Amino acid sequence: MSRYDHRPRVLKADPAFPEACAAAIEEGAAILRRGGLVAFPTETVYGLGANALSATAVGRIYTAKGRPSYNPLIVHVNDLDGVRAVVREVPSLAEMLAAEFWPGPLTIVLPKRDVIPDAVTAGLDSVGVRVPSHPVARMLLAAAGLPIAAPSANAFTRVSPTMAAHVIGQLGDAVDLVLDGGPTTVGIESTVIDLTGDRPVLLRLGGIPRDAIERVIGGVLAYVDVVRHADAGEAPRPSPGMIERHYAPHARLVAFGAPQRDEVLRQIAEVVKRGVRVALLAHDVRESQATCAIEMPRSSTAYARTLYAALHTIDERGCEIAFVESVPTDVAWDAVADRLRRAGLSLPGA
Ligand code: TXA
Ligand code: MG
Repeated sequence: MSRYDHRPRVLKADPAFPEACAAAIEEGAAILRRGGLVAFPTETVYGLGANALSATAVGRIYTAKGRPSYNPLIVHVNDLDGVRAVVREVPSLAEMLAAEFWPGPLTIVLPKRDVIPDAVTAGLDSVGVRVPSHPVARMLLAAAGLPIAAPSANAFTRVSPTMAAHVIGQLGDAVDLVLDGGPTTVGIESTVIDLTGDRPVLLRLGGIPRDAIERVIGGVLAYVDVVRHADAGEAPRPSPGMIERHYAPHARLVAFGAPQRDEVLRQIAEVVKRGVRVALLAHDVRESQATCAIEMPRSSTAYARTLYAALHTIDERGCEIAFVESVPTDVAWDAVADRLRRAGLSLPGA
């Protein structure tokens, strides 16, 4: 499955062991300063980082991921001063969101300064900025003394990494160093909101729920609504990266509801008997004969935390089909439902 034959250099970065952690961070910072690539944990997923001020360094990210360069990258900084160094203006709505959600899993798209090369933003005049809360990400930013451009550290269209092992399996030695900070806690990517226009537009559901954002700044438009209601001639603001079917495992995903459980268990038993490798992702996996049965949590935040690891496991176990129990239609599950859809699951509301 790996695109590369060699393992990258991997260092543990566990703040519980301050000396080893500081040494690992220092090595990562030195690599970033000389234009290299460092994969590092954030609270959402692992990022594949490069010096955001260097077009050459950033170019290596696209090569390592096999990602088309029309897809803009998120720039990570440690505080609002770091944000001001890379954007032309911080509108009051951004300040309100920053006060409430930073450091944390929210990315805000703002007008970019010239110091940010086009390679970062895919030629757009705006840049997505985020202040992460993960201690390793924060220490790396402080030690490097640079803004860090970082997409999720997966190969293009593959499932985002929530553990160092996922990065190693997908990117191999295309990355100079992997800082292993253990499993991430949020588990899905940051929420992305665009504040460059007249009205805020939610570009990607993620770690911060939409209703939490609306409690702070009032109503926001969803990108799909902007596209749907755009008049002829009034082109929607471009959001590259929104169209692709991301986060996809190899297996075909099949949704089922709790009432169909017995029928699904029967089907699984039958298909497994024929030698097909089958996965089951459900709240209750007792008595299943699936090749790979993964018990999924009942709370949306715990589900988000474990979802990508489950999708990675399905791939590792070579499953061809995965039966996935539907999740609630409640708003709290919006981001999880979005990621399940992008993984290829047919759910209502697509
Ligand atoms: O949680 C996260 O956001 C992770 C961690 C590493 O921070 N990063 C991440 O990056 O998910 P990535 O590259 O996989 O997704 C970034 C997405 C782009 O695909 C695009 O949809 C949006 O953010 N984006 C970034 N800059 C943008 C811009 N200037 N205009 C519109 N959308 C932008
Ligand atoms: Mg990504």
